[in-house]
Amino acid sequence: MTDQPSSPSSVRAEDDFDPVSALSSRFRVALSRAFSDLPDAHAAAQGADPLISPSRNRQFGDFQSNAAMPLAKVAGMPPREVAKRIIRHLDLGDLAEPITEASIAGPGFINITLRASALSRLLGVLDAPDLGLPPLPADQRRTVVVDLCGVNLAKQMHVGHLRSIIIGDCVARAIERVGHRVVRQNHVGDWGLPIAMVTDKLMRMRAGGEDIDRLDLDAIEKIYKAAQADCAADERGLAAARRWWSHPKAMAELETQVSGAREALASAKATLVKLQSGDEATRRVWQRIADTTMRECLSVCARLGADVRAEHSAGESSYADELETLVKDLLDRGVAEIDDGAVVVRVVGIEEPCIVRKSEAGGGGFLYATTDMAAIRRRVRGLGASRVVYCVDARQGLHFKQVFGAAIRAGYADLPSGEHASLEHAAFGTILGQDGRPFKTRSGENVKLTSLLNEAAARAGEAVAAKNPDLAPGEAAVIAETVGVAAIKYADLSSDRIKDYVFSFDRMLSFEGNTGPYLLYAVVRIRSIFRKAAERGIDDSASDRASFGIAAPEEKDLALALLRYPASVRAVADHLEPHRLCQYLYDLASAFSAFVTNCPVLQAPDDATRRSRLELCRLTDRVMSDGLTLLGIRPLDRM
Ligand code: ARG
Repeated sequence: MTDQPSSPSSVRAEDDFDPVSALSSRFRVALSRAFSDLPDAHAAAQGADPLISPSRNRQFGDFQSNAAMPLAKVAGMPPREVAKRIIRHLDLGDLAEPITEASIAGPGFINITLRASALSRLLGVLDAPDLGLPPLPADQRRTVVVDLCGVNLAKQMHVGHLRSIIIGDCVARAIERVGHRVVRQNHVGDWGLPIAMVTDKLMRMRAGGEDIDRLDLDAIEKIYKAAQADCAADERGLAAARRWWSHPKAMAELETQVSGAREALASAKATLVKLQSGDEATRRVWQRIADTTMRECLSVCARLGADVRAEHSAGESSYADELETLVKDLLDRGVAEIDDGAVVVRVVGIEEPCIVRKSEAGGGGFLYATTDMAAIRRRVRGLGASRVVYCVDARQGLHFKQVFGAAIRAGYADLPSGEHASLEHAAFGTILGQDGRPFKTRSGENVKLTSLLNEAAARAGEAVAAKNPDLAPGEAAVIAETVGVAAIKYADLSSDRIKDYVFSFDRMLSFEGNTGPYLLYAVVRIRSIFRKAAERGIDDSASDRASFGIAAPEEKDLALALLRYPASVRAVADHLEPHRLCQYLYDLASAFSAFVTNCPVLQAPDDATRRSRLELCRLTDRVMSDGLTLLGIRPLDRM
């Protein structure tokens, strides 16, 4: 064994701009060489994580490696000795200041201070059109289905749909941004008995001479609720009344209610059969409900800046014809079994089996889970997905566990490679009101998304007018809408996906703190610097790019923040957690704010510094704007 430093490792292109991965790969080389004389330690070090993290205390450097501590035991030496061995084999090239024994702190942390020259070179690499996220080579590109939105026919878009739409949209954008092919699927709840009930009621209304074509979604939703009430027989009430010898008049009323409800239910069931067999008149009324619902749905999605279009709709109805054969297939191959008359698939580790067909006594119908199994089959086999991501409420967790397990058992998720597609439930928590209970209107109704967005835009309009009274009315309205929508979306996306959060207009519309308006404002601030530069005739034309000079601590912090961008987008794509990107953008905006406060840009001491700082501003704008776009938020020029 020699004590000579190893030769510099070849660094993968994608590591070039990200200090953490660049440092990690160089540490990995050192780790694999440091213990060639100690077989156990050598084996442990070979696969070890270099554990590079930003330093808590900047006085000791920019990053630290904690690799030595976990290796100390196997190597049978104090962690500081391990650290010494590592640094003897470490070659950080021109990335960092030389690492010496003085760099080892405490029990064995290795402190690393990046070189300004390295940072400016890395920024140059990041400053490419793809901002460090180049197209993937063909063999790494996957097709990913993102299941989002999932509205139900004949119901208004309410606050319960918000999260599936915007989390789904953000996750889809991030996965696309890192280079995969994304297919969005809006699994609309457009089939089954409840839909048949409202279809049936509308048909009867039309037969009674009503013009059902003029009904809007509000009206259809009322009819939907009425249809459900019509079909809900008070069987228990009647039984109790019989048992207790109720007043004859009360009995008569209950009997009428129950027989009316039984009739309505029978009629709805007949309508369902007609729908299933493609009866034209029935289908036309159903289509009318679907069109009205989807028009509203797509327009709310557009207003939310979410890319959910008509061609993404693949409703439950689109699977209806496949369910009979699917269940037969499951039974034929012994995947499903009959349990108490119902057809079920048992899944290892889950107590409740996945029911795919009700018993004869229960009506023999197919279920939500049956359709979702058909959907997995189509997504994997038909659409070619090797990953399917469901952005759906956490309360459906058991449903997805059952369906994923059953589909995998059935082989519906099998890939040509012999593995199966990865099926992931990106579950989210509930939006709560100030009282800590699910967010409702004062009268206990679901909050309509349109009214929520209207109120956000109105409140944002007031806030913007107070901040900037000189905006032209037309522009002010556009800004108010953008800020209002951004506030709602950002408050949602920035909270930990799986947790519930409390909806608060005041908090989300604040221009301070981790909010949508604060981030939009950071971009506005940068753009106003460039407007002023133009007014003063300062040339920042692209043909003559200055290099990034990194001297002040705030410049270094800003540079380090910028370089983390690609990794934070990848984190969203991998972990399906938009809040990671939000936190990143907030950190970047904060680093930018410290930078402009402490490092004058237009008033910089000399020409070269001013040009370099303008370049930092320009790159910050690009990264912020790209990141906001991934959240589905459109950056503004002024506000
Ligand atoms: N329509 C369903 C609901 O409102 C959501 C659909 C989610 N997607 C799915 N593939 N199951 O609960």
